[in-house]
Amino acid sequence: QPAPMVDSFGRHITYVRVSVTDRCDLRCRYCMAEKMTFMPRRDLLSFEDIIVLADVLISRGVRRIRLTGGEPLVRRDVMQLVDELGSRIGKGLDELTLTTNGTQLAGHAEGLFAAGVRRINVSLDSLDPERFSRITRRGRLDQVLDGIEAAAATGLAIKINMVALAGVNADEFDRMLAWCSARGFDLTLIETMPLGEIEDHRPKCYLSLQDVLADLQKSWTLIPSLHRSGGPARYYDVAPSGTRLGLITPMSHNFCDGCNRIRIAATGTVYGCLGHEQKVELRDILRQGGPMAVDAALDDLLAGKPRRHQFDLTRPATARHMSVTGG
Ligand code: GTP
Ligand code: 5AD
Ligand code: SF4
Repeated sequence: QPAPMVDSFGRHITYVRVSVTDRCDLRCRYCMAEKMTFMPRRDLLSFEDIIVLADVLISRGVRRIRLTGGEPLVRRDVMQLVDELGSRIGKGLDELTLTTNGTQLAGHAEGLFAAGVRRINVSLDSLDPERFSRITRRGRLDQVLDGIEAAAATGLAIKINMVALAGVNADEFDRMLAWCSARGFDLTLIETMPLGEIEDHRPKCYLSLQDVLADLQKSWTLIPSLHRSGGPARYYDVAPSGTRLGLITPMSHNFCDGCNRIRIAATGTVYGCLGHEQKVELRDILRQGGPMAVDAALDDLLAGKPRRHQFDLTRPATARHMSVTGG
């Protein structure tokens, strides 16, 4: 019987984020630099590698897998992987989800649903076309809105992710919450995190979601909810729409005590924490080491999993950008 995954602080790992590519068709200013160097494609885990690893993880108690990137839908033939992972749902896996920027969603929504995906998170930082293009540097709002509409039409539950940025989209929280509630979407607001070098000055863009919440409460009835998605967000029921507002507050309210996750980068590096360099390299072990070696490497990772991140917005906590580990 494979041992459950527990770290040195007694936290059970039941959730894994798999970044299937560090590439993205957008260059959101808070996430990436204008010029990025991506990992060579030849170094990526194959889908076979990912499946072997996923089966080990499921055998050790992982119940949810979230595919991320970069942008997961730009990885060639990614739906083959989604189908294969989807076939584990109900057989050890409770949930397969995806975090996407939405640009390719219109063409993939049906396939996702058919594979067993039931909810997705879509990044959408503005509803203003010009502003959206400025934030993403190369995105078109209508393309993402079409993707969201297609996903909703197939029956996928949708949560919108919006990174809260002073001087960028701070005047849009009210409008975004109204837009989401009217469509039955949940909305998660996210504090900006210092990962990798970018051109923008992060301290200048930072907004505490404690302040944003207080502001929203002036015009909305937001009832603290016991709902947990399995992630770091704290939720509020948005009355009377029945949708939820989530807050992800790494800067203003740390949530690492409840951490239940590890993250796999596209080349098979496994990270214990979003905000640390602590890692093990699994690709070669997956291919040559056999199951016991994979278990041993995972145990090493768990033994060294940091207690919490130590974000300081004035300098990147890691050289890698969010897009390497997909958040
Ligand atoms: P669900 O709760 O399952 O809906 O997913 P999620 O909100 O965890 O996933 P999503 O990919 O939508 O990520 C939203 C934001 O949460 C991103 O900015 C992630 O970087 C951030 N996030 C997810 N997990 C962690 C974590 O362990 N630590 C920190 N600091 N941020 C995280
Ligand atoms: N800080 C906070 N959120 C970020 N995201 C990307 N980079 C950052 C960052 N530096 C968000 C994206 C996406 C989610 C996975 O993470 O907008 O919704
Ligand atoms: Fe791409 Fe997402 Fe980063 Fe934007 S936030 S550049 S969509 S990975």
